Amino acid sequence: MSLISLFRKNNHTKLFTTPSHSQKFFIFHKFRQFYKYDISETEAHDPQSALNKAQNRAADIYGTKATYFLTNGSTSGIHAAVLCCVKKDEKVLLWKSAHRSHLNAVKLAGAIPVFYEHPHSDTWDVPLGVEPAAIDNLLKGNNIKALIVTSPTYEGYTSDIRAIQAICKRNGVYLIVDEAHGALYPFSDRLPESAVNIADFTIQSLHKTAGGLNPTALLHVNCELDAKPALDMIMTTSPSYPLLATIEANINYLNSSKGRKKLSELIQALCELRHSCPNCDFGGNDVTKILVRIPKFSGFALSELLFDKYNIEDEITNSKSTMLLCGLGTDTKKINALKSALQKLSQL
Ligand SMILES: Cc1ncc(COP(=O)(O)O)c(C=O)c1O
Repeated sequence: MSLISLFRKNNHTKLFTTPSHSQKFFIFHKFRQFYKYDISETEAHDPQSALNKAQNRAADIYGTKATYFLTNGSTSGIHAAVLCCVKKDEKVLLWKSAHRSHLNAVKLAGAIPVFYEHPHSDTWDVPLGVEPAAIDNLLKGNNIKALIVTSPTYEGYTSDIRAIQAICKRNGVYLIVDEAHGALYPFSDRLPESAVNIADFTIQSLHKTAGGLNPTALLHVNCELDAKPALDMIMTTSPSYPLLATIEANINYLNSSKGRKKLSELIQALCELRHSCPNCDFGGNDVTKILVRIPKFSGFALSELLFDKYNIEDEITNSKSTMLLCGLGTDTKKINALKSALQKLSQL
């Protein structure tokens, strides 16, 4: 039985168990449905075996050795991946400006951080993907146990994960890819190649671009290590089954023909936006991140104009460009509003 179908089943057992709201005492009425599905590991519900089955099905869909559902974001997946493959006093190579979860994971493991830098684009004022050759140099003779790579970067630059994995293999280094912003990649060949079948560990946030609820995420494992003990160290013993069920539904949707069509339409609309704004420059190698630059404005000025004049809020801005994040919930109406604003601003 799947987690989703578990919630279709009526349960008549008188539960003297946690959670004590008993699925029918709704302190916060607006979330009534949430309370109804908020179950725990009772014999009557047995959500644990439904979760195991759902995770196994997810591993089949992604083609991984194991895929784990996370309800504490990519942060927890990165922590678990590092705890899984690194021991105290071993070295981890990580990006100096990476998301804070990377360094925190190294600290939790009692490991030693060794930092690398990404090349920086002065045109866009953003970090580019990391060069495999630079990684190769850093791994040589440094006795590194694991490498963490962020691909894509927040602004949408990817790295050559295949080349980096080949280098890691040669040096006996585990590769952990933070693909928090690339959860759509496995479902379209018009997006960059996903790391899920390449890296030893890949972490994706479903909530960022793939239509998931905050803070749902996935940890994919492709090596011989068992990530379960590491996950047990950092995950609650009372997981949210409603959130876990949304992860199952989310993956099923992404993998369905309906979901793939929706994604393909989104990509098409975003390619069209780029073509219909010839006076704007677009950067990055992921079309779902609109990294845009209008040379006569600084990124900060462009961001302010979009917000003040057109009621459009971007995700992140810098001195040269600004990035508007798109995902499964970005509809044509919103894309057209942005297109019209960019056209007007670039013709001022
Ligand atoms: C590159 C990157 N990695 C990891 C994370 C952590 O993701 P989550 O919020 O799902 O824990 C973020 C969040 O902003 C991020 O931008």
